[in-house]
Amino acid sequence: MRNIIIDCDPGHDDVIAIMVAMAHEEELNILGITTVAGNQTLDKVTNNILKVQTLLGTNIPVSKGYDCPIVKPLEVQPLAHGETGLDGPELPETDLKPTGLHAIEFMRRTLEEAKDKVTFVCIGPLTNMGLFLKTYPHLKDKIDCIAIMGGGIYNGNIQVKAEFNVYHDPEAAKLVFDSGVKVVMAGIEVCYSGSILLTETERAKDGGKASKLFYDIMQFYQGYAIRNGWDRTAIFDMTPIIWLLHPEYYVSEEREVHIELNGEYCRGMTVVDTRGYSGQMVNPKTVLVSVDREKFIEVLFDSLERLDKRFA
Ligand code: RIB
Ligand code: CA
Repeated sequence: MRNIIIDCDPGHDDVIAIMVAMAHEEELNILGITTVAGNQTLDKVTNNILKVQTLLGTNIPVSKGYDCPIVKPLEVQPLAHGETGLDGPELPETDLKPTGLHAIEFMRRTLEEAKDKVTFVCIGPLTNMGLFLKTYPHLKDKIDCIAIMGGGIYNGNIQVKAEFNVYHDPEAAKLVFDSGVKVVMAGIEVCYSGSILLTETERAKDGGKASKLFYDIMQFYQGYAIRNGWDRTAIFDMTPIIWLLHPEYYVSEEREVHIELNGEYCRGMTVVDTRGYSGQMVNPKTVLVSVDREKFIEVLFDSLERLDKRFA
């Protein structure tokens, strides 16, 4: 059993990742969800996860974090996630409220009270995580690892060489990557290798509450792939969650990773040292390279089935 905190910017793929985690309460004990501005504004992404919880009938504590990156201005992503940040599914109004603690205060209190180490799963920009580590460095010892969706070994998505979560707040990413805490990096390559076929989404069409939410989320989310003529799409954020459940499904390498803060074309790039001088590594990260796509996707549909039964 791992105690985890999920830091996110829901976001279509964020919600799917959280549902996969919810479906594995034997292995993953979600202590809390913290939100950060990224895909949409802080208020919108926070409301999204509160409304999703109202729909599903869950009430995991949600704490709001930073509403903008440390240096860069906020750049929301309506193209990929819509004006609400979760366009597509019909979501109920909610009476649920955030805890009232700032995300890094929730993180601090949780770690101070935790008997065992806590794992962070960061699937949005790293503003909350980076500033938490900067503010409370003495609590690093209470962290088992920080599993992130972010970066890329060779390429980017929002920029030629930068992935959105790291690009959005590279200063925060540097604070995380240089912290000395174990980092597991699920970059875009491993996410793409686990892409769902658009035809596979249909498997959820006539399912229960969780499957229907997933299906409705995907009707909007996979529109980007359809418009580009692709037969599949990456549900990026569930990649680190499924690694926590089944690391054996993945190929990974221990690599030094540096965050580029300057550079006209590559600010926000994760510079992964693939030269292989393993003897000289000072602070290696576990970089996920690829995943067994079929097994990865089966975890998703098994999760939806479990939640359909639980929320029936
Ligand atoms: O690059 C993919 C990441 O950007 C995912 O976390 C997605 O939710 C968006 O935030
Ligand atoms: Ca995200």
